[in-house]
Amino acid sequence: MTLVGAQPEFYPTPQAAPEAPPETVPTHVGIIMDGNGRWANRRGLPRLAGHHAGTENVRRITIACADAGVEVLTIYAFSTENWRRPADEVFGLMRLLAQRIDKEAAELHRNNVRIRHIGELEGIQPRLAERVRAAVALTRDNTGLVLNVAFNYGGRHEIARAVQRIMQAGVSADNLTEELIDQYLDTAGLPDLDLVIRTGGEMRLSNFLLWQAAYAEYYSTPICWPDFGREELYQAFAEFGRRVRRFGGLS
Ligand code: IPE
Ligand code: IPE
Ligand code: MG
Repeated sequence: MTLVGAQPEFYPTPQAAPEAPPETVPTHVGIIMDGNGRWANRRGLPRLAGHHAGTENVRRITIACADAGVEVLTIYAFSTENWRRPADEVFGLMRLLAQRIDKEAAELHRNNVRIRHIGELEGIQPRLAERVRAAVALTRDNTGLVLNVAFNYGGRHEIARAVQRIMQAGVSADNLTEELIDQYLDTAGLPDLDLVIRTGGEMRLSNFLLWQAAYAEYYSTPICWPDFGREELYQAFAEFGRRVRRFGGLS
């Protein structure tokens, strides 16, 4: 993928050229973009400055994934549990997204990225919800990487909504299969997750893609999301390439 319109400040040190992508690249990568608050605290900045820096990093990592040959990248942007945060942080995050989404979507569109959304837009401020729908519509016909944005997303909530829709469709208990559930999830049509990366050092899923991550490999790094760059991404891919995936069988 060409770096159309890439911001030069993303590559401040030309000698630190990004590594070549490793040979084994996961098809579907999920990233739990954690550590924005700590990144800001360590610099004596307000937490929102960390979210701002984190937003800047999304485009850089999306392009690095596309360059490596990843087909689907799911990013965890806001969980159904993040509403528990202080109102000013939640409001600040929503405002940040509303301010940035059109510009970011246009840039990703120029890079042939197809944006999808998973989660619940119900309850989101209508103007922001409309911008999310517009970003999805703008990039609908693109043929490059799928950037799947988990926004107001929770794995349990997604499964509950899928079951509701299955029941509303009148599916009988005998016809309920794993494949059918797949088709009713927000991720319908996307492959299962191969690799979950969590920045910020925690070792948990925090309600991210519970169904789809059944056989995903897990990679946690202490690096906070705003500092997680192309080199670290490709290190995670290299580690993924060394894992032996057995899917319950014998290798
Ligand atoms: C992740 O960073 C971003 C969101 C959850 C929106 P955090 O805000 O959780 O950062 P830490 O974990 O407090 O450092
Ligand atoms: C997970 O991070 C959610 C996102 C990155 C959007 P959290 O910071 O909310 O997770 P916990 O609370 O530490 O589990
Ligand atoms: Mg966190």
